[in-house]
Amino acid sequence: MNIKAPRGTQDLLPETTGDWQYIEQKLTDLCRRFNYQEIRTPVFEHTELFQRGVGDSTDIVQKEMYTFEDRGGRSLTLRPEGTASAVRAFVEHKLYGLANQPVKLFYFGPMFRYERPQQGRMRQFVQFGIEALGSADPAVDAEVLSLAMSAYQQLGLRSLKLVINSLGDAESRSNHRNALVEHFSPHKEELCADCQVRLEQNPLRILDCKKDRNHPAMATAPSILTYLNEDSEKYFAEVKNHLDNMGIDYVVDPNLVRGLDYYNHTAFEIMSNAEGFGAITTLSGGGRYNGLVEELGGPETPGIGFAMSLERLLMALDAEGIELPVDDGLDCFIVSLGEKAEKAAVRYTYELRNAGVQVDKDYQQRKFKAQFKAADRLKAKYVVILGEEELEKDTATVRNMSTGEQVDVSLQQLVAYMKEELEGGN
Ligand code: HAM
Repeated sequence: MNIKAPRGTQDLLPETTGDWQYIEQKLTDLCRRFNYQEIRTPVFEHTELFQRGVGDSTDIVQKEMYTFEDRGGRSLTLRPEGTASAVRAFVEHKLYGLANQPVKLFYFGPMFRYERPQQGRMRQFVQFGIEALGSADPAVDAEVLSLAMSAYQQLGLRSLKLVINSLGDAESRSNHRNALVEHFSPHKEELCADCQVRLEQNPLRILDCKKDRNHPAMATAPSILTYLNEDSEKYFAEVKNHLDNMGIDYVVDPNLVRGLDYYNHTAFEIMSNAEGFGAITTLSGGGRYNGLVEELGGPETPGIGFAMSLERLLMALDAEGIELPVDDGLDCFIVSLGEKAEKAAVRYTYELRNAGVQVDKDYQQRKFKAQFKAADRLKAKYVVILGEEELEKDTATVRNMSTGEQVDVSLQQLVAYMKEELEGGN
C-alpha cells in the first residue's frame, strides 16, 4: 500500500522547517513590538460559527468547508480562517470587558479550505493573522496595515504592492448594492450561474468573479467610492492620511472586494510584484469588520485584522531569491575512539546538553575519520575528541572547526569551556 499525503496538503521536512521556525519567530517578535498577544483557538468549531461569521453566501461557506458530523451528531467544521474563531473567543471569554482596549491578538495555525489546489493554493495552509478589537480609530487601521507591510519587509521582500479600498458603512454599502443590482440586472442572463445567484445574495462579489471578469458590464460597474456617505468618506480619508504620514505607499482600487462577508470600511490586500511569482499574486488580505462581534453575540465592538499564509510568503521569498539566515549548523560534535571513550562520549554529550550546549555524537559505530566527516556534514562549529590517550589524562581535545585550532581541555572543565567558547560567539 502506498499512502500519500492528501491532495492540497504538504509535509514540511526538516530541510524546510528551519525557515518556518525562523519566520514564526520573526513574526512573533514583530507582534510583540506592536503589542499584539497570541491567541490559540481550536482547529474545529461549530459549523454555524462560519455560516454566521464568514457569511452563508460566500464561496468559503458554500463550497469550501470541511464539514463533518461528530459521533455526537454535532455539525463541526475545520476552520477555513481565523477571524471568526478569534471573535468567538473574544465574546465567549468577555475580552470586551478588559481594561485595555483595543484587544490586540495574533495567531498562527492551519486553516482548511476545499479549493482546487495549485501553486499558492492549498487545502491545508498555515495562516498568520492579527485582529484588533474594540477601537474604531482609523489609526488602528493604519497600524494593522503597517504591521502587515512590516511583516514582509523585515524578511527582506521588496516587490510589494499594498492595495486598499473602502467598502463604507452599512448605508453606503446598501446604496452601492442597489446600484450594482440595477447595473447588472439587464445582463443577468449573460452572467455565470454563480453571479446570477450573487446578484440576489451579494452583488458586490460579482466584481470579484473570475469567469465574468471580461464582461463589458464589469468595466462600467458603479464604484463603491462614489457611494460612500460623508462619514465613510471621512473615515477612509483619515486612514489614507495616516498611511501617507507613515510613508507607506498604497494604491486605491475601488474594485477590491474581499471574499468574506464581514467587511466594511477599510479593505486591503498585499500583492507580490516579483517576476516569476505564480498566477496568484495576493500575499495577504484583511479589513475592518465592525458588526461581526454583535453578529456573534457580543456587544457592539469594532474590529479590524488581516491574515497571510506562510506558504505564499515563502513563495514570495523564493521569487525574490531571498535566503533566510537560518543557522542550521551544530554547536558541537563529539568524536570518540574506543569503548571507554564511547562511554565518556555518552556522558559528556548528556552533560553538555543539560548545560545548554547543542551537541550530537556518532551512533553508527563509525570509524574515527568517518565521525569527522559526519561532524562536517552537520556543520559542527566544534569537535570534541575523546580518545584513549586523552582519557588517560582526563582530558578532551577541542577543535575549533573554522580556525582549525586545537586545545586540550580537562574533562572537568569541558562544559564550562564549551559554554564560554560558544557564548563568546567564536
Ligand atoms: P482571506 O483573504 O480569505 O482572508 O485569506 C487571507 C490569506 O490567507 C490570503 O491572502 C492567503 O495568503 C491565505 N490563503 C487563503 N486561502 C489559501 C489557500 N487555499 N492556500 C494558501 N493560502 C491561502 C481571511 O482569511 C481573513 N480571515 C483575513 C482577516 C483577518 N480579515 C480580518 N482579519
